[in-house]
Amino acid sequence: MGKGVTKKILNINGVRRSILVRGDEKLSTILRERLLLTGCKVGCGQGQCGACNVIMDGKVTRSCIVPISNVPDFTEITTIEGIGTLDDLHPLQVAWMAYGCAQCGFCSPGFIISAKVLLDENPDPTREEVSAWFHKCRNLCRCTGYKPLIDATMAAAAVLRGEKTKEDLMFTPTDNRILGTEYVRPSAAMKVTGTWDFGADDALYMPPDTLRLALVQAEVSHANIKGIDTSEAEKMPGVYQVITAKDVPGKNRINGLVMLPLNNKCDGWDRPILCDEKVFQYGDAIAIVAADTEEQARAAAKAVKVDLEVLPAYMSVPEALAPDAIEIHPGIPNEYYETNCIKGPDFDWDSVPEENMVEIESYCSRQPHMYLEPDNGYAYIDEDGMLTIHSKSIGIHLHMPMIAEGIGVEMENLRMVQNNAGGTFGYKFSPTNEALLGVAALVTQRPVSLNFNMYQTITYTGKRSPGFMNIKLAADDDGKIQALWGRNYIDHGPYSEFGDLLTHRLTQFVGSGLDIPSIRSKNSTVFTNHAWGSAFRAYGSPQAFMGSDIAIDCLAAKMGIDPFEMRAMNCYKESEDSRTPTGCKPDVYCLEDLYDLARPKYLEAKKRVEEKNAASDGKIKYGVGVSLGVYGCSLDNSDVSECWADLQPDNTVLVRNSWEDHGQGADMGTLTSAHEALREAGFKPEDITLFQCDSKHTPNSGPAGGSRSTVMSGNATRIACENLVKAMKKDDGTYRTYEEMKADGIDTHAKGVYTFTASVALDQETGQGDPFPAYMYSIFLPEVAVDTETGKVKVEKFTCVTDVGTVMNKSVVDGQFYGGLVQGIGLALTEDFEDLEKHTNLLRCGIPYPMDVPYDLEVVYQESHPRPKSLFGAAGCGEAPLTAPHPAILNAIYNATGARITRVPAKPEVVLEALKNI
Ligand code: FES
Ligand code: FES
Repeated sequence: MGKGVTKKILNINGVRRSILVRGDEKLSTILRERLLLTGCKVGCGQGQCGACNVIMDGKVTRSCIVPISNVPDFTEITTIEGIGTLDDLHPLQVAWMAYGCAQCGFCSPGFIISAKVLLDENPDPTREEVSAWFHKCRNLCRCTGYKPLIDATMAAAAVLRGEKTKEDLMFTPTDNRILGTEYVRPSAAMKVTGTWDFGADDALYMPPDTLRLALVQAEVSHANIKGIDTSEAEKMPGVYQVITAKDVPGKNRINGLVMLPLNNKCDGWDRPILCDEKVFQYGDAIAIVAADTEEQARAAAKAVKVDLEVLPAYMSVPEALAPDAIEIHPGIPNEYYETNCIKGPDFDWDSVPEENMVEIESYCSRQPHMYLEPDNGYAYIDEDGMLTIHSKSIGIHLHMPMIAEGIGVEMENLRMVQNNAGGTFGYKFSPTNEALLGVAALVTQRPVSLNFNMYQTITYTGKRSPGFMNIKLAADDDGKIQALWGRNYIDHGPYSEFGDLLTHRLTQFVGSGLDIPSIRSKNSTVFTNHAWGSAFRAYGSPQAFMGSDIAIDCLAAKMGIDPFEMRAMNCYKESEDSRTPTGCKPDVYCLEDLYDLARPKYLEAKKRVEEKNAASDGKIKYGVGVSLGVYGCSLDNSDVSECWADLQPDNTVLVRNSWEDHGQGADMGTLTSAHEALREAGFKPEDITLFQCDSKHTPNSGPAGGSRSTVMSGNATRIACENLVKAMKKDDGTYRTYEEMKADGIDTHAKGVYTFTASVALDQETGQGDPFPAYMYSIFLPEVAVDTETGKVKVEKFTCVTDVGTVMNKSVVDGQFYGGLVQGIGLALTEDFEDLEKHTNLLRCGIPYPMDVPYDLEVVYQESHPRPKSLFGAAGCGEAPLTAPHPAILNAIYNATGARITRVPAKPEVVLEALKNI
């Protein structure tokens, strides 16, 4: 049918619609862009994620891959908008809310659509059938680990069968208390009804003069730029302007914010907004095309000619450190930062008998984040003349100083807003599209929007920085660890941004959780031409524990000590005045109790795998692994967060902060913190309105990363609300109304600031100090089945026994753990971004689908050690489940087979190779 226009008559959500379409347009485009049924989300755009699922004549259909020409007239189509509404929720939508399924919520409409068809066909499915159905419908979720989605479907099925009511599913507070309950997050209802607009949805509602942007991106990994010819592109239809580095009003560099200047050879200004002299990595932005439509912009981007002198590309640390390697940033050595951990006295390694010592080399890979919502954003000059940038930023106030000078805008004229964001898992701790949007809006003086597709999202944005670890560990004859030595490298890609901080995490977490009297580790950051390193959940600790946790497992095996008991015997103990690798006391001594809590689980797991092995013919071997993960909450050394609370004329409270949400539950965290402080004055949760993440209207709460937000922004929120309650309180113990506050001349605006300053400041020479107000501790116990013929590994059950202090909201914290554990399974077994030609979509990057992971995820909380410096005794939780699940899985493979693997992902070929080498 080509480009011809045809009239299509469709029955959509029970309404007959007559629409003019072009035959090659996709059904998702028609639904979203013509009919504004934006509950249909487009994630991958390639039929891999199910976010765009709709029901077409009773069948689940991925609308992003269906050309409208293939949809017959009078087809019945149901989108999420036709399933239920905010006023009349379907049982599936209620269950999705009640079971904490709508974390970022980007996948929720597509899952609910699939579940609806399943329950129409099979009203009483088993959990296995639900999981298999989602798998078949290609539904992906990156946040929840799938378990809550299966539970919610089972619960909704029970409601539809009349065995329960919708009300039975939802938690309702009985004593005006939501702290420590399963109260449903405020954004859930909109997420499950498809009314929660993400950035790409917002972009559809922009004014008619909005310019749509497309990037010209590098297709080589390292090159000198000799020239850029935009003349042909500028003549193409709809093109308004092609913007190159010479048009950027500012310094054209992102400020990478050097955090740790000692032994850092960078000044942080190495990442161009638009490449001018060099290309540093595949996907680098070289030019921006601004046009009337996205299609026109993308077409013109292809017509921009870039003359390159291709240079050798260094795609790993060994390549970048080869003697003949040139400097990626001329004038700065490729190994540009070094941090050391020097704890305790020197250790005489020559005195250790061979049988009491191990040395291992390990590799933690370039894990891709694989959030489902592609990177997107938009920008404009607002009514006050402020350059306003909307994006998925999880650090709006952090990003302003990072991009202002590069764009060429004064800080006071820059405003950043976080859109409703799909998961980020940390990649948005760094700016991605923000500076590009800012430059385009400034240069064109028009509103602009930039939507990446999934290919661009995967190939352009940052990844977990690989860690090359070399660790030695020594113990006495009883297995008590005496010393650790390490020489480790982080491949941070071509940009130094936060590379010092990340590498410093090795100093802080190699050996963490173990009482080690002497540590000497040296950790370096290296420029390469592979993907630039951005934050990823658990930031630095997955690399650290791939070193020290595997080392202790090897040492236990060598010394014939049970690996669980080896760890337990060496954990931090108050009676021994144990210190962390940075030489400070931990926030609480909870690990002895945690091992005691985990021990029965470990023994049960051992028994299960023994029984399975006894019943197996030997082709499949079963094993249980163990590891300990630790992570600190907050930006280290010093941190601050601010929040505001305002009593409103209608006697409700407006709570404002910049606690960015990327699915982890900033809305729930803010509401819980605020409500717990306000309920003294009789406020109910519904009396509290949240306004978050607009730098013009909300204070600087710091970025939403490093599991800092509960501790820092939760406390700031609590303090603001406590201050408001104090101001409202009368001498007789009752509380003033808004009118009374005004009449008494009392300010209805209250501020809360929470500051953390390390009790012992960081010594950059030795890495010693007291960097965090609180820590999270998790023991991982995966049970695996290894197919010794194919090398395929399946995690059949995953238990995590954790201490993150007080659990402030059970379903939110559960959701963080389930999702993190599944990301850990992916990191251990499948996820990769090494091959730039192959790893270009979600499937090829190895994202786990529902049947790839166990339903049997068990999280056990220890809450008997409230954190003294935190909020209501809670530490953070988001990083905890991804600290060390992957070494535990490798340790389980060893337990099953005797094959020791020290790199991830342990794909079948890696496992087979290790089996051969036993
Ligand atoms: S399957 Fe359609 S957006 Fe992913
Ligand atoms: S809640 Fe499923 S992708 Fe975020």
